[in-house]
Amino acid sequence: MKNSNCKITGNKTKNIISFGKMPIANGFLNKKDFKNEFFFNLSVSFSEEISLLQLNDHPKPKMMFNSKYPFYTSSSNFMKLHFNEYASWAKKKFLKKINNKIIEIGSNDGTFLKNFQNSNTEHLGFEPSKNVSDLAIKRGVNSTNKFFTRENLIKAEKFIGKTDIIFGANVVCHIPDLIEFIKTADKLLNDDGKIIFEEPYLGSMYKKTSYDQIYDEHIFIFSITAISKIFDLFDFQIIDAIPQVTHGGSMRYVISRKKTKHFNKKIKSMLETEKRKKISSLQGALNFRKNCELSKEKLLDKLFKIKKKGYKICGYAATSKSTTILNYCNIGPDIIDCIFDTTPDKIGKFSPGKHIPILDYKNFTKTFYNYSFLFAWNHKKEIEKKEKKYLKKGGRWITHL
Ligand code: SAH
Ligand code: TMP
Repeated sequence: MKNSNCKITGNKTKNIISFGKMPIANGFLNKKDFKNEFFFNLSVSFSEEISLLQLNDHPKPKMMFNSKYPFYTSSSNFMKLHFNEYASWAKKKFLKKINNKIIEIGSNDGTFLKNFQNSNTEHLGFEPSKNVSDLAIKRGVNSTNKFFTRENLIKAEKFIGKTDIIFGANVVCHIPDLIEFIKTADKLLNDDGKIIFEEPYLGSMYKKTSYDQIYDEHIFIFSITAISKIFDLFDFQIIDAIPQVTHGGSMRYVISRKKTKHFNKKIKSMLETEKRKKISSLQGALNFRKNCELSKEKLLDKLFKIKKKGYKICGYAATSKSTTILNYCNIGPDIIDCIFDTTPDKIGKFSPGKHIPILDYKNFTKTFYNYSFLFAWNHKKEIEKKEKKYLKKGGRWITHL
């Protein structure tokens, strides 16, 4: 349970905030399993030494990533488009015309790697969650149902020392043992190889007080400073950082070996900005704590006022992030009647911890809810477009932000 696998926690680690007793964020469950539900204490600390915000404690990866992982990248059309653009960008900027070898970590249902099918690029995905890995294979993607570690490279022999790029998206923050991750990458990459990954950005989380980015799977919330300090402990350096709008504000990092000569004015200035905005120092984390407490108070006040007027509230999109909001703020079915979602694996089940029923989004407009709590606030544009009629009928979207 303890974050003991992570040997890069850094020194001078200070506790920041506890969100209390928390279930598995993606642990949507049936009624019969309520009594055996697993809980742990969700709290974060900040290492001043490596500027890293991190969970103090988390469930073992296999409890989260197994044959029943209910998140599918392809459930968002916007994300499908994003991964198509991510692939085109990388092809243009880093790949040769022929004979490339690439790897993706956390390749999920193959949405990203599909963009390399029928090309001169040989690809391989590492995906420990069997259901999504199987789906990727069905879609013609080369996926191995394994965690990304050195001992799992048996099926990747031809990639050892020959890989041009190791890609990732929303996965490096899921890996407790960052040393093992970097050593595995080191074994695979060729001399000019790159690691390119994008993750929810600490600066965006602070700015929005989107504390719901913090849940069991997100062991770290990275900043450019933290990434720069972590990779500098090894034979690697950060050579670019590119902001992304995905997931409410992410950062794409480009990492190369130190021997690749590079002087990056842009990174230097981005690091200075993070210093100025207190993203790299303890003060930023302490401010965040205050903002979280305030956000909880404000949200509960808003919801109680709505309920007092006799209005009905539902939730929209049973996201992993919603688990943190609902459990931290103690919001159950007495306040939010149900949550509508598109994922077949979630429909008919109950939300982790608070046990709000999850219903098929097709029934969203069948009953009128005065207010809908948009838990997938990061997909706001896509969802509001899809549910235009709701606003016309007088419904209102709300979020905790
Ligand atoms: N990259 C996709 C999926 C993100 S969800 C996207 O951005 O939409 C994170 C994925 O990483 C899950 O499918 C999970 O099973 C996988 N994962 C978790 N730990 C991993 C590890 N150590 N190695 C490889 N994949 C991992
Ligand atoms: P996540 O925030 O954990 O990535 O999960 C996104 C969830 O949002 C997933 O359960 C699917 C759901 N969803 C909808 O229900 N409707 C939508 O239009 C979109 C984009 C997502």
